[in-house]
Amino acid sequence: MILPIVAFGDPVLRKKAVNISKDYDGLEMLLDSMFETMYASHGVGLAAPQVGKSINLFMLDTAPFEDEKYPALKKVFINPEIIDESGEIWEFEEGCLSIPHIRENVKRYTSLTIRYQNENFEQLEESYDGIAARVIQHEYDHCQGKLFVDHLSELKKRLLKNKLISISKGAVKVDYRMRFPSAR
Ligand code: NI
Repeated sequence: MILPIVAFGDPVLRKKAVNISKDYDGLEMLLDSMFETMYASHGVGLAAPQVGKSINLFMLDTAPFEDEKYPALKKVFINPEIIDESGEIWEFEEGCLSIPHIRENVKRYTSLTIRYQNENFEQLEESYDGIAARVIQHEYDHCQGKLFVDHLSELKKRLLKNKLISISKGAVKVDYRMRFPSAR
């Protein structure tokens, strides 16, 4: 089932999400729906708060960025915890399904180590770099109540302010289902 994606301005995007246990009601269906929603909106990652659920869960499929060095990574991360970030800081242009039509360069570390549970609730600890690390950092932020625009300079934030207000009011054209906080 395709779920509406919550737009910028909705308080759920600002909440710190909570961990879940393996008996979380409807988890399998939620994961299926989130993958369907992510693909339908051409996203490479989706976090539960973006579909209105303040739980610690996100997924990614980096297939659109696949190359020889970085094979596609499709994965679900439950109760994730980034335990280390390292390497250089690099800039990469990010966008977000909750903030349509805004793309900005964001600086992040190249590499990270993450501890998480997979969909079978097996505990794992893995290291990533490149695009996979970038998408993980972006989606992980969502679970912390953080958005990529928070990483921008004060000047950039001021320049984007009106656009962000328009998005929260639903004054934006998107070709996927969205839920806008102040459009009633
Ligand atoms: Ni996002």
